[in-house]
Amino acid sequence: MKLSDPRIIAALPELGVERIRGASVAERTSLGIGGTTDLLLIRRRSALPALIRLLRVGGIAYKFLGGGTNLLVKDGELPWVVLQLARQEPEMRLEGNTAQVDAAADLGRTVTFCAKNDLGGMEGLIGVPGTVGGALRMNAGAYGTQIGSYVRQVELYRAAEAKIETLWEKQISFEYRHTSFAPDDIMLAVKLELPSKPYREILQGIRICNEKRRSSQPLNQKSAGCIFKNPAGGSAGRMIDELGLKSFSVGDARVSERHANFFVNAGQASCADMLSLIEKIRQRVHASYGVELENEVILWTQ
Ligand code: EPU
Repeated sequence: MKLSDPRIIAALPELGVERIRGASVAERTSLGIGGTTDLLLIRRRSALPALIRLLRVGGIAYKFLGGGTNLLVKDGELPWVVLQLARQEPEMRLEGNTAQVDAAADLGRTVTFCAKNDLGGMEGLIGVPGTVGGALRMNAGAYGTQIGSYVRQVELYRAAEAKIETLWEKQISFEYRHTSFAPDDIMLAVKLELPSKPYREILQGIRICNEKRRSSQPLNQKSAGCIFKNPAGGSAGRMIDELGLKSFSVGDARVSERHANFFVNAGQASCADMLSLIEKIRQRVHASYGVELENEVILWTQ
């Protein structure tokens, strides 16, 4: 969508918002799929309620993009503008065992920064791509660790109230790849409380997780991580693998040979290719196991 309302365009600089015209969403997502639209880069967090009000009044649909690492976006000219937080400096601060982290900070960088300051606990999250805000929303997890376990406070734009609020851990529920945040809430910052651990010990844990990940996941290919959530007590990847569906493809959208719950863009996959692959695999698993796999990947395909 191209913004054309001169009143909206004129108000953006005052709000500390930079407009990138005709931005490629494919270039901003790990799958490398997605069309073009105006991207609004938010430098001043406090201006978010005013920006959203401005868009609402102007009848402009919008979506909020985090790190784009768990997302499938449709092709062509997109019918909404995309909002994204610009990176801030400094993006993290420590106070004792508490790390105050901006939502736009890279998750891996956060884990490493905390480790260098002898704060551990998040070793399992080291290879999870994306931002801290995205990890929070989804309660990202790996190797027995989930980010929600360390959250003490979250600052967010609360869509229902149209204002910025702070929530304490008790006000948020974190479950497997699910949280109680509303779909249109926007994460702004988090306070994590982490256990003290010597850097060398944390580094050892990080190395082990990196090694496990490298040997089981297609890290050098374009993907959105796992496509489906694991069903209770089961593994989506194992089921797809057992059905002999590794390398099964629709156009350039392909089930990874390394991990069957990763679907890769092996070239010029379109959103329609990837969606069709997802549905075909879901049906095959349902037909054989009677299990309806639920998406883990977020779809912006309508
Ligand atoms: N397996 C196969 N074939 C495959 C893939 C897996 O047989 O192609 C088997 C493995 O051998 C293992 C079992 O399935 O016995 C589970 O596999 P794995 O340890 O790779 O874990 P997963 O359940 O497939 C989950 C998360 C990953 C996370 C890993 C490591 C989900 C949907 N996936 O994968 O998270 O990195 O555990 O903790 O919960 C993500 O969220 O995007 C993601 C990649």
